[in-house]
Amino acid sequence: MEQQALKSQIDLDKLPRHIAVIMDGNGRWAKQHGKPRVFGHKNGVTAVREVTEAAAELGVEYVTLYAFSTENWKRPKLEVGALMRLLVETLSKEIETLNKNNIRLKAIGDLSKLPDITHKALLDGIAKTQHNKRMTLVLALNYSGRWEITEAAKSLSEQIKSGELAPEDINQDTLGRHLSTKGMPDPELLIRTSGETRISNFLLWQIAYAELYFTPTYWPEFRKAHFYQAIIDYQRRERRFGKTSEQLV
Ligand code: IPE
Ligand code: IPE
Ligand code: MG
Repeated sequence: MEQQALKSQIDLDKLPRHIAVIMDGNGRWAKQHGKPRVFGHKNGVTAVREVTEAAAELGVEYVTLYAFSTENWKRPKLEVGALMRLLVETLSKEIETLNKNNIRLKAIGDLSKLPDITHKALLDGIAKTQHNKRMTLVLALNYSGRWEITEAAKSLSEQIKSGELAPEDINQDTLGRHLSTKGMPDPELLIRTSGETRISNFLLWQIAYAELYFTPTYWPEFRKAHFYQAIIDYQRRERRFGKTSEQLV
């Protein structure tokens, strides 16, 4: 269906506040076009732009994009290097647009282990957009859910050791406040492109009740219309949170 027709089907009163995306299929898309994997990553930038713009236009408050996992270091050095450079290049090009659209940039993950230029470009982008209010775009970089929960366990232990916190004070809220997503609502919708139907260590704690949406579309081909389709699908579902259907009315 046409983009505008899809957009008009979205109920703006029932928008997810936070949408998380596992951007997958860049390599396969490139292969399909007889090109090296990096060509896929480069073309994935268009999809990032489309999703960011579409989400901001609708009024979504947070979009979190899985850009590089802690496991992705295992890829060929050449690909990892190209991805890190692409990030620097993209950030320097897009910060102006983010500012123009009043979008704040944020990053989650073990950022200190990123190459210096990437880390710097990221911090620079975050600083330059910090006062923007319309939407927050979160990049998950050198991120994994298990890493994040382990870090939370460490920092809670430190607080207990120092007497700042008692073990009985630990509950789901305290733990949530020690995650890198603190202050953000949990994603209500998680999209994964490329036909894979796994989580790959993304936002494990936060997606406890997220609706999962899997699409065969490869990330470089993902456009506003695909994004709208995912939201329409989400809005058709009944979110029961353990209750019965009858209890919801
Ligand atoms: C997603 O596309 C991008 C990153 C993980 C950085 P892939 O590179 O995983 O593409 P496929 O899954 O090999 O097709
Ligand atoms: C997940 O994609 C990580 C990102 C999108 C950054 P992968 O392509 O790395 O996931 P697996 O290895 O297929 O599970
Ligand atoms: Mg992949």
